[in-house]
Amino acid sequence: MASLTVRKLDDALKASLRLRAARNGRSVEDEVRMILRDAAEAPAAAPPALPTAPPVPAARPQYGDRAGAGRPRVTLIIGGGIAAYKALDLIRRLKDRGLHVRCVMTRAAQQFVAPLTAGALADERCYTDLFDPQSEFDAGHIRLARDTDLIVIAPATADLMAKMAQGHADDLATAILLATNRPVLLAPAMNPLMWANAATKRNVAQLIRDGVHVIGPNSGEMAEANEAGVGRMSEPLEIAAAADALLRPPQARPLAGTTILVTAGPTHEPIDPVRYIANRSSGKQGFAIAAAAAQAGAEVTLVSGPVDLADPPGVRVIRVESARDMLAQVETMLPVNIAIFAAAVADWRVANAGEQKIKKTAQGMPQLALVENPDILATVSKLTHNRPLLVIGFAAETEHLIDNATAKLRRKGCDWIVANDVSPATGVMGGDRNTVHVLTRDHEDVAIDSWPVMTKDEVATALVAKIAAATGHPPA
Ligand code: CTP
Repeated sequence: MASLTVRKLDDALKASLRLRAARNGRSVEDEVRMILRDAAEAPAAAPPALPTAPPVPAARPQYGDRAGAGRPRVTLIIGGGIAAYKALDLIRRLKDRGLHVRCVMTRAAQQFVAPLTAGALADERCYTDLFDPQSEFDAGHIRLARDTDLIVIAPATADLMAKMAQGHADDLATAILLATNRPVLLAPAMNPLMWANAATKRNVAQLIRDGVHVIGPNSGEMAEANEAGVGRMSEPLEIAAAADALLRPPQARPLAGTTILVTAGPTHEPIDPVRYIANRSSGKQGFAIAAAAAQAGAEVTLVSGPVDLADPPGVRVIRVESARDMLAQVETMLPVNIAIFAAAVADWRVANAGEQKIKKTAQGMPQLALVENPDILATVSKLTHNRPLLVIGFAAETEHLIDNATAKLRRKGCDWIVANDVSPATGVMGGDRNTVHVLTRDHEDVAIDSWPVMTKDEVATALVAKIAAATGHPPA
């Protein structure tokens, strides 16, 4: 028998057919076949009864309405972790950037935050169920997957990432992720042991190979008492900035073909095998510069002292302990086009560091003799062979910021110096923000470019843009 195509059914009837088919676990086509068969088999006297139209939802799901039309659209998938509460702030941060936000929550996420709250903040109902008649009328998960410009998953739990890596689709979130052809940004959040687990590492590596973008996790305190390490979800401001960057047209790569060396973090100078001298540097500014330079297309090597930060994407990272190790690694990396010395190198080391743990004795306090460490920035600035074209130092000062930084610029022989006030009240050491002045040397003159307070990522982006402009590669 020939197949039958029925046209000109009104929308309400189509909707009732779809719902009836879904309830009976059949395709719409099979459902129509059943109706026709029942009608044909019914006694001639009895008129064939069309299915009673079920109540059609008063309003169509908003995704079809192109709510937020004109604005870039972000679908925020909230996973089930304690960091889910931060997703609520993320909704606001994304909206601050003029983005339209639609939320989807996993079942586990609903244990941490209410869909109603996410929906109220997003100005649109929050989607939770794969088999939700309201949204599944019209293959909702497919529409949700496509009717967006970017999908952000925050927090992305280890389980959600494992499912993504394997291509599971057993709930609304994973079905959307499998059905989408839009960019996806993951903000992982989990216990440090889960993040360090070989299975998680495999899954993240697979997802990156699949083209998924990842931001974080950061290091720091965990929700669990006495637990710390890498696994904290990136801050909502950072995630919103990363989402915004992905929604912008593909970035110019003004530093493509440029080799850049960056130092970051503190150094640890041993006193004996178990003790060391250190400082409060977190390494965040240096890591942010390395990441921004890599994003601008440079080939970046980052030599870092001991810090709790994940390797920035696309950057070769060499981890060292002491100032002398750092200098040795920097020297093996030369020649490079540009060198940026953001590390807070310890000025002194212990001359007579013990090979065994120094013990308390009746003879009194141990005498620690200090000797000066090599100055890596000055060493590289004063090279006559293999000197980078542009050498940039940092000046960490607690008083007379500009005067001290100007003197440092001249004394060390670098081309630029980025001066920042690291007094405890500024919160720069270990914090996420920085206020810098960039001093550039032009023969005997020094020009000062003072920037407003910015996040360390923003400082990094601005510094990379300034480098690109100065080296003749302004962003397109
Ligand atoms: N620096 C370096 N090697 C050192 C000390 C500092 O490469 N042994 C670099 C830092 O990476 C930074 C710059 O020199 O780019 C200035 O560091 P800063 O700590 O501000 O100054 P110091 O040189 O240590 O001088 P002072 O402690 O007297 O301020």
